Amino acid sequence: MTQPIRIGIVGMGGFAGSHHNTVARLEERGIVRLVCACDPRRAAFGAEQQAWRFGPRNVGVFDDYRPMLEACHGDLDYVVIPTPIQLHAEMHDAITFLGIPAYVEKPPTLDYVELGRMIAADSRARRSSLVGFNYIVEKSRLALKERLLSGEFGAIRGGTLSALWPRPSSYFTRNGWSGRLVIDGQVVLDSCFGNAISHFVHNMLFWAGAPGLYSWAQVAAVRAELYRAHAIEGADTFFVEADLATGCTLRFALSHACAGASTSSETVICEKAVLRYAVGGQIEIAWKDGRTERTASGPFDGLEENHIEYCRYLRGEIPRPATTLEDSRPFVVLNDLAHVSSGTIVAIPAQLVSHERDEKEQKDYVSVSGLAKAVDNFLSRGVWPGEAGWRRDKGDVVTPSDLGRFHGTVRAMAAANKAAARAGAAG
Ligand SMILES: NC(=O)c1ccc[n+]([C@@H]2O[C@H](COP(=O)([O-])OP(=O)(O)OC[C@H]3O[C@@H](n4cnc5c(N)ncnc54)[C@H](O)[C@@H]3O)[C@@H](O)[C@H]2O)c1
Repeated sequence: MTQPIRIGIVGMGGFAGSHHNTVARLEERGIVRLVCACDPRRAAFGAEQQAWRFGPRNVGVFDDYRPMLEACHGDLDYVVIPTPIQLHAEMHDAITFLGIPAYVEKPPTLDYVELGRMIAADSRARRSSLVGFNYIVEKSRLALKERLLSGEFGAIRGGTLSALWPRPSSYFTRNGWSGRLVIDGQVVLDSCFGNAISHFVHNMLFWAGAPGLYSWAQVAAVRAELYRAHAIEGADTFFVEADLATGCTLRFALSHACAGASTSSETVICEKAVLRYAVGGQIEIAWKDGRTERTASGPFDGLEENHIEYCRYLRGEIPRPATTLEDSRPFVVLNDLAHVSSGTIVAIPAQLVSHERDEKEQKDYVSVSGLAKAVDNFLSRGVWPGEAGWRRDKGDVVTPSDLGRFHGTVRAMAAANKAAARAGAAG
């Protein structure tokens, strides 16, 4: 009988609550044990602490992660960081300073310089930290990537990601950091591309990554147009084209400025076949010779699978975590270069934006007329929405050598937003 892996969780609300639910279930199966948890508003989570049975499970509860680590660091195998993006780096620093690895929620950070510091700090931990991109552990994904690497489908010619994930206006007011570019001088950069849909962007780089199974493609050049329809500081709609170091091009069209059902589709175009992967849906392989293979990707609990696999890594049963901080670098660089390329975040023309009230949910959505067509035109034909009626200049073609412009670009975007808000208030 192996000993349960000992865990601490920073936070209790938001997605931290989902980690508590998962860890409580895994504790019943003897896989893990929750040693401690903290939250600056711990009193607000009294009912949750009861539901999670913190008392009988003998969980230490703290107001802050620092005293929690001071009291419990000798009893911890890993600490989960499911907190606001801009707090990840300081929490990861404090945890790895004590030699403890972390399960850092995605995105680890959206600032490539900060990511470099986190990668360096991680070398102090006993084992590598995990970044919580949900879908790399999927068995069906790993099996398909093996087939890609074996050359069965021929060389990768390109790929597209389409993801329309409606978010109501309340999503952006649920905490102090949603949709923000910068807080107190620190990069946040919360967006559909950098946060909620980042899993799928990371997945696309995973498909194109070689030579090993756990490889992510390096980005060589990026062009992007960033837009907003919600009243937020950052962008809620991204059109991005990335030339990879391998020579092929990926296109991404993502938005939170929509209503109705969420859709997402990862497509990989190869010499001999086109692969379409829908999480929780269907995997389709359309061969150029006319054959089509279809299988279900099957039900998948990303959080549970990631905790189980990370415990297996910490027990020495598998050689590496699904995504390390270093593996996240291509995603963070791509996100940062998309901002540098776009230069500005442009408001989607007002006559295209309508406001929709979902009476059942009691929530307000925005909807952009022609969005699905703009996505299709971009992904299939390379037509940029700016030139097709959304009225903006093209994004610059930028390369990793332009990353030095990243912080200045983000500061300028935040300043432009403030100036527009002031002008709006004055007018
Ligand atoms: N893997 C996934 O599918 C998934 C889904 C949703 C969110 N996330 C990620 O989880 C993270 C948190 O997102 P969220 O929307 O739940 O954020 P949130 O703002 O709701 O915060 C989460 C928790 O952090 C706590 N917290 C805030 N400041 C703290 C501090 N100083 N010390 C300790 N705890 C603190 C909050 O009280 C809350 O309990 C983000 O990185 C997000 O991208 C991942």
